Order: sequence, then structure tokens, then C-alpha cells
Amino acid sequence: MSLFRKKNVEQMIAGAQAAGLKKALGALDLTFLGVGAIIGTGIFVLTGTGAVQAGPALMLSFIIAAIACGFAALAYAEFASTIPVAGSIYTYSYATLGELAAWIIGWDLMLEYGLATSAVSVGWSGYLQSLLSGFGVSLPIALTAAPGALPGHETLFNLPAFLVMMAITTLLSVGVRESTRVNNLMVAIKVTVVLLVIAVGVFHVKPANWHPFMPNGMSGVFGAAAVMFFAFIGFDSVSSAAEEVKNPKRDLPIGIIASLGVCAVLYVAVAAVVTGIVPSAQFANISHPVSYALQVAGQNWVAGFIDLGAVLGMLTVILVMAYGQTRVMFAMSRDGLLPAALSKVHPRFATPFATTWLVGIVFGLIGALVPLNVLAELINIGTLAAFSMVSIAVLVLRRTHPDLPRAFRCPGVPVVPVLAVASCLFLMVNLSAVTWIAFVIWLLVGMVVYFGYSRRHSKLAHSGRK
Ligand code: ALA
Repeated sequence: MSLFRKKNVEQMIAGAQAAGLKKALGALDLTFLGVGAIIGTGIFVLTGTGAVQAGPALMLSFIIAAIACGFAALAYAEFASTIPVAGSIYTYSYATLGELAAWIIGWDLMLEYGLATSAVSVGWSGYLQSLLSGFGVSLPIALTAAPGALPGHETLFNLPAFLVMMAITTLLSVGVRESTRVNNLMVAIKVTVVLLVIAVGVFHVKPANWHPFMPNGMSGVFGAAAVMFFAFIGFDSVSSAAEEVKNPKRDLPIGIIASLGVCAVLYVAVAAVVTGIVPSAQFANISHPVSYALQVAGQNWVAGFIDLGAVLGMLTVILVMAYGQTRVMFAMSRDGLLPAALSKVHPRFATPFATTWLVGIVFGLIGALVPLNVLAELINIGTLAAFSMVSIAVLVLRRTHPDLPRAFRCPGVPVVPVLAVASCLFLMVNLSAVTWIAFVIWLLVGMVVYFGYSRRHSKLAHSGRK
């Protein structure tokens, strides 16, 4: 039974209330927070891969991914607003599903946040290189991408991706967090860039490029939906701010759903425009497909602005994801599930300094050495698995703690959480076999660590709760 030992929900809520964080955020702030974390490598880079796979029907892939996220987001919002403690679904699940499930979710989250920093740094690198080439500067090809990432070229190490991770790690390690003001600025830049793509690109669309609409049939559309799910990751960051929201019952769901909705509309429009300008197959191996489409349209100036906007805007995604990763590890270490050294706080900077550097170096190297498509699929499978578990947790919590005050109640229970699980599983099934194998290995390693270390070192185990 010790596998199911749980933290006490009521105590956690009381603890959160005692922490007394300022409740200053409203629905609009949350929407900005969400959009800031969402728009990044997905739309700016993976759109190319998606277009090759789905053709112009990439628009449908985005809609399918958004619907799956919508169901998961509703369940997520109930979870987040029931237990409004800072932290992530790792913390929530510790109180509801028990230690083992919390461990699996925390372990999965490392695939989400940690690898997402790697993936976004790769996307950043593609746009930086496109921006530099506008000024006639190019790096030695060996240092531009991971081995095997550019078929036909001898590539060894994605140097810009690694360097940007080091820069972000330096900031995080000395305690620079993203301020609301910086986030709002980044959101303004990213949304402006995306609107620019749509507004300028629409005049260069040749409807003939939209035929055939579905070159690889529905399987191409579903496969691309499973990959493009990546473009929506980040909406969950809204829930992490639960403790600081003025009126969580109203604002949290609005924030999550509005940020998803805004991004979905923008993404579908971008997909329509870029596949209308460039025949979809041409996007193979293009690391900056959105600005590429504008270059093809002869709009080099606009393409330059897109490069610049993407380079600036993606920084914030890396920062948010890296921050999330360090805090999940910090929480797991504080609970005794990971070594205590990982929750050591730097005396001067008041940050988990060593953890931040560990995360930065490990995921920086991964970004420099592993191709983006491989990373994106792994991130998606980990995140989808975690979201399925959250949706199940909502159902479990309704039974085990029916009277808990819920600031937000997921509508249509049990149908919506069940649909969330089903749609997450559906997307998972559409990921490649290699991704599944890697995921299973990752989970097995997680089990070895849990049974070999964490279970015995768990603070909860020593506190006598079973
Ligand atoms: N959704 C985020 C991005 O696309 C992770 O970069």
C-alpha cells in the first residue's frame, strides 16, 4: 500500500493559503501568460515537418490537436483550482493518486519541460541562423545542427542551441525569472510576428498549392496532429499560477481556454498561409519554415522581421520551460524522491543553483546532439501521458474527495475527462514506434530509480503516512 501513500490534501491547501502569495492575476494576465509559454518552436519550426506529413491539411491537424488540448485543459483546470498550490501536476497527483503515480508524472514532466527546453533551443538556432544569413553571416555547417539532422550534410553539434541554453541557465541560476512585463512584451512581439505572416502572406497564396489537400490521407493528418500537439504545450503553465489568481473559479478556466483558443486560430491561419505559398513537400529539412515561406514570396524584409521576432520570442519559452523543470526537480528532491542536493538553495542567489546548471547542461547537450523531430515526439508522448493521468485524477478525486471545495468544476464529468484521456491516447498512438520504445525505456529507468532509491528515501514514508 505504501505505493499509494498520499500527501494530505487539506494540509496542502492550508499550506498554500498560509504561504500568502499575492493574488494579483486576472483572466487577461493568465491568457498572456499562456500565450507567452505556448507560441514557440511548434508554430515557427515544426510547421514545416507537419506540412510535409499532412500537406495543407495541416490546418486540420492543428484543430485536432487543439481539441485534445481543450479537453485536457478543462480537466487540468479543475485539478489546478481544487488544489491551488504552486507547482505542477506532480504536486497535485501526490495528494490524490499517491506516491507512485506522482513519481511517474514527475518523471514524465522531465520529458515535457526538460526536453522542451532542448527542442525550443533547436528551433531558436534555426531562426538565428536564418537571421544571420540575412546579414551574410553563416556558421560552419558542422556546428549548425545535430548529427543526422540535415540529410546530405555532415553536422556534428548545434552550437547556437547549446549557447542559448547556457545563456538562459546563467540568468535562471542567478535568480532572473520572467517578469510579467517581459512576458507581455514577448507575447506582443510573437503575436505581431504571427499576424504579420498572415497579413503579408495571404496576398501570396496560390490556391493551387492547396491541392492535393491531404497528400498522405487521414493518417498523415493524425500523425501531424500528434507532432503539432507540441505547439500547444505550455497552456498548463497557466494552472501553475493558481495561487496568485484573484478569482480562480472564473479566471483560471478562461485563461487556459482563451490562450489555447487564440493560439489555435493563429496556428490554423499560419498553416493555411504557408502551405498556400509553398508546395508542402518543399518544407522538408527547412529549419525556419515560416520565414522561408515569406522569402519564397519575395518578402525578404518581412522574413527578416519574422526571424528577429522568433529569436526574441522563443527565449521566453526556453526560460519558462527550464524554470518549470528545475522546480519539478526541486519539489521531487524536497519530498525525498530525488537526492537532497537537488533542492539545495544557493545562499546568495536564493535559487536551486546546482540543479539549474545540471538541467541547463544536460538538456543543452541534448538539444545540440538530437534532431528536433525526435525530441518533439518524445516530449509529446511524455506530456500526453501526464495529461491522461491528470484527467484520471480528476475522476478519482471526485470520488475520494467529493466535498472538497472546487473553485472550478470541469463540465460534463465523467464525459469530458474520459474524452481527454481518449484524445491523449489517440494522439499517442499516432506517434512513431521509436518514440514509444524510447518512452517505455524512460519509464523503466524511472521505475528502477523509484524502487531503487526514491521509495526508501521518501520523506512521506518517514513521516509515517501510509
Ligand atoms: N508550445 C511550445 C513551443 O511551441 C513548447 O515552443
